[in-house]
Amino acid sequence: MKVFLDTAIVDEIREFAATGLVDGVTTNPSLLKRAQAPYGEVLTEICRLVPGPVSAEVLAEDAAGMLGEARELVGIAENIVIKIPMGVEGMRAVRALREEGIETNVTLVFSTNQALLAAKAGARFVSPFIGRLDDAGHAGMDVVAEILEVYANYDFETEVIVASVRHPLHVIEAGLLGADIVTLPTKVLRAMFEHPLTDVGKAKFLEAWRDVPKQ
Ligand code: E4P
Repeated sequence: MKVFLDTAIVDEIREFAATGLVDGVTTNPSLLKRAQAPYGEVLTEICRLVPGPVSAEVLAEDAAGMLGEARELVGIAENIVIKIPMGVEGMRAVRALREEGIETNVTLVFSTNQALLAAKAGARFVSPFIGRLDDAGHAGMDVVAEILEVYANYDFETEVIVASVRHPLHVIEAGLLGADIVTLPTKVLRAMFEHPLTDVGKAKFLEAWRDVPKQ
């Protein structure tokens, strides 16, 4: 399973990129707003820290506008992937960008049918938003399971990014389903490192070490 970070905070990305565990990054306008720095500079630095795919989202609502924004964004770095919201105009843009050799991540996906359309349009990635589905009273991970099954039936190459992840259990569930990628807020990735018994164990070993003869 590949692990992406779902943040635009450069210091957080730097910290975890140093572990070698980060395979890519996803950003969106809300995450860039939190970064409070010019987005071009932020994306350039993220692409330098993480050599894998870094998603940057277009804001235009029509395909021509999306294409214009996408062509500017890919100028930032070679590993920029264009994030495009699901919709008719979006899928027109995905198809056109694919023909230009520009990779896309179809975002704001909440159903298996939307994911099917994204794959047919030629998206490299599709991002079902699990947490937001759960928040709305649906079983988000059931949608991921369905998408994976449909993609396997037709040998689609589009990779599934489990997005809108809220807690470490989502990661386990994604792994059990064989999802290609999870994109994680740093809070969730940090929590995955932790276990109370690990802390207890470390404290006990340190305590024992004090009584080990050193010479
Ligand atoms: C995915 O690429 C999105 O940036 C993200 O996962 C959205 O998650 P949210 O529901 O926490 O905003």
